[in-house]
Amino acid sequence: MSKKLRLAVLVSGGGTNLQAIIDGIADGSITNTEIAAVISNNPGVGALDRAARAGVPAFVLSPKEYESRAVFNTALQEKIDSLGVDLIVLAGCLLKIPESLVEAYPNRIINIHPALIPAFCGKGYYGLKVHEEALKRGVKLTGATVHFVNADLDAGPIILQKAVAVQEGDTPEILQRRVMEEAEWKIMPEAINLIANGCITVEGMQVHIQ
Ligand code: GRF
Repeated sequence: MSKKLRLAVLVSGGGTNLQAIIDGIADGSITNTEIAAVISNNPGVGALDRAARAGVPAFVLSPKEYESRAVFNTALQEKIDSLGVDLIVLAGCLLKIPESLVEAYPNRIINIHPALIPAFCGKGYYGLKVHEEALKRGVKLTGATVHFVNADLDAGPIILQKAVAVQEGDTPEILQRRVMEEAEWKIMPEAINLIANGCITVEGMQVHIQ
């Protein structure tokens, strides 16, 4: 058995993408993988309850507790480095990832975005706003993207995408839920499983899946 892929999962809120990872490891759809720890930038969120129920170590590192963002960033990287992880997973993480962390973990940080990048992404595009804009534009297809994180926002090499049809009468909340159920909770575990089993190589902006 080859060495398990060790994950640090960074969260900010409900943790439904974290739950999809926990469930994937439990049901065997994600192999060769273990969650070393969950790190939340917010106390008292659903993701922490999910980690506790799964017996996964969890830490809260809130920028508000530090005298500056730079000091927080250093503490965050020290915590992650201390865990000895192979991959950092941003699962509903609304934290600005410091460039120093991206440089320390090149093509070892992945993020899930609730749209088909390069659509509806970048500064200010997170949570419901993404779906509000998709509905406003009248797109017939939206979906989710898992990508490697680089120095720019939502701009790293794309690993997987999954399309979801917009339906008559969709509200942003209904659409968000469908994108989570039909896309996010499927491609995030699938991407982790591919990485854990050595199926991914990156060449510039191209991600090759063997
Ligand atoms: C949702 O907007 C989801 O689309 C995005 O992050 C938010 C919360 O995700 N990925 P989670 O339930 O905390 O995983």
